[in-house]
Amino acid sequence: MKIQVAAKKPGNVSTDILVLGLIGRGAGSAGWGALRDLLGTSPAPLLSLQGWKGKAGDFATIPAPKGTRARLIVVATLAERGNPDRGAVRDVALRVGALARKTGLSRVAFFLDHALAGVERVEAWSYQEIGEGLGYGGYVFDNHLETKAEHGPADSVYAYFGGRSARDGMEGAISFGLSVADAQNRARTLVNEPANVLNPESYVQMARDLATEMDLDITVLSQADCEARGMGAFLAVGQGGGYESQVVHLIHRPKKGKARARVALVGKAVTFDSGGLCLKPASGQATMKMDMGGSAAVFGAIAAAAAVDLQVEVHAIFAACENMTGSKAFHTGDVITASNGKTIEVLNTDAEGRLTLADALPYAGEQKPDYIIDLATLTGACMVALGPSIAGLMGRNRSLNRALLQASDRAGEPFWELPLHDEYKEMLQSKVADIKNLGARWGGALTAGLFLEEFVPKGIPWAHIDIAGPAYVESPKPTRPFGGTGFPVRALIEWMRSL
Ligand code: BES
Ligand code: MN
Ligand code: ZN
Repeated sequence: MKIQVAAKKPGNVSTDILVLGLIGRGAGSAGWGALRDLLGTSPAPLLSLQGWKGKAGDFATIPAPKGTRARLIVVATLAERGNPDRGAVRDVALRVGALARKTGLSRVAFFLDHALAGVERVEAWSYQEIGEGLGYGGYVFDNHLETKAEHGPADSVYAYFGGRSARDGMEGAISFGLSVADAQNRARTLVNEPANVLNPESYVQMARDLATEMDLDITVLSQADCEARGMGAFLAVGQGGGYESQVVHLIHRPKKGKARARVALVGKAVTFDSGGLCLKPASGQATMKMDMGGSAAVFGAIAAAAAVDLQVEVHAIFAACENMTGSKAFHTGDVITASNGKTIEVLNTDAEGRLTLADALPYAGEQKPDYIIDLATLTGACMVALGPSIAGLMGRNRSLNRALLQASDRAGEPFWELPLHDEYKEMLQSKVADIKNLGARWGGALTAGLFLEEFVPKGIPWAHIDIAGPAYVESPKPTRPFGGTGFPVRALIEWMRSL
């Protein structure tokens, strides 16, 4: 991707798509003035034809008139007044990325009003969001289509910046955003690949390939290694499946200098969740290839960390298996023993994610990280509570939670805190084992969190993020394309950068 940040005005930039990101409706907006100059007439009639009202989020296209150096003009409203937020810039860039991909108009140029108007301080985030959105929007998943996407993603991006001294930083910010988007798109592909392509064995190979490509350290615990370590909870889940259950552990270490922190990211990696013997109905199974979405986020996050050489040591850990109904499948009522010695009564084989994490979390603790964050498509109950776009955040470390919430806000990948309410621990009491894997009818996301806490080594700040809703988009919108989302790769990078 060619990246250029300069102070060439809209009329002087040779591009395919010329984007004007407006603040406010008309005359006051710098972009509006530029648009009028390009068209040689008021843009209002052309825009209102398309139902454009100048509301935040409005997005219209106009063929560029002859004599201009662009082919298509995009007019998008970033904010009706005041300063735009990061999400507004990211969403516009995302739609432009999708447009470039669809049309083959591969050179894009951004003129954001707050940059064009010569606002004294244009934050680098504006340019980071151009990169993140453009890269994210340019993604297509056509691995299994006979007719592949006709055009590639945008290959050249220009952005206007009036100032001089900080231009390199702005180009760097675009490039940073593009790297994060690329890593996030990898996570999307992992989620999008069906369970006959991405299974516990092929997934391990993909991790090995990533390690080679990105120069990461990798350790794989074979099924036999997991047995030797007594990972009886994780292995029980994979027993009915057709593949070896394995644990993947990737490590990113900063190329130079000392790491500012050591972070373990643990992702749920159930490559398909049929529900096991407590079988899901067909409608419930339909999207369960996404049940490795937590591990995809962890995979994407470490890929991004390596790409931008984050000054943090990152451990990406996931225990991969599939939850099936084979003759060796674990039974409802089984009592299994996790590697930390705790026994678990399995009262629902469909509450399997917490069982895999029960062995992955102690393993993460062995790395003696400063923080453990787990990400999991863990409960339908979390979707009931927070809907499809918001993840549930649980943990007892106030400052860690605050930092994660702030990062999630900056990244536009919303988390909302849910309580680890001690009283509800009684819902997990078993008569025959130390704990059971099923809570009561209500508060299912919370009891899942309380269950996990029993397997987190004491003394390490920990947070659990239930991404059952936001890992996958079933009802797409222009700014929320269908399928795997790579949620919350951006938020994880934002958080790790802040350490
Ligand atoms: N993978 C599912 C949770 C899920 C549901 C993720 C929908 C994404 C979309 C998880 O393994 C599961 O089946 N959870 C059960 C737990 C219950 C049996 C306690 C659920 O949520 O119904
Ligand atoms: Mn399940
Ligand atoms: Zn599951």
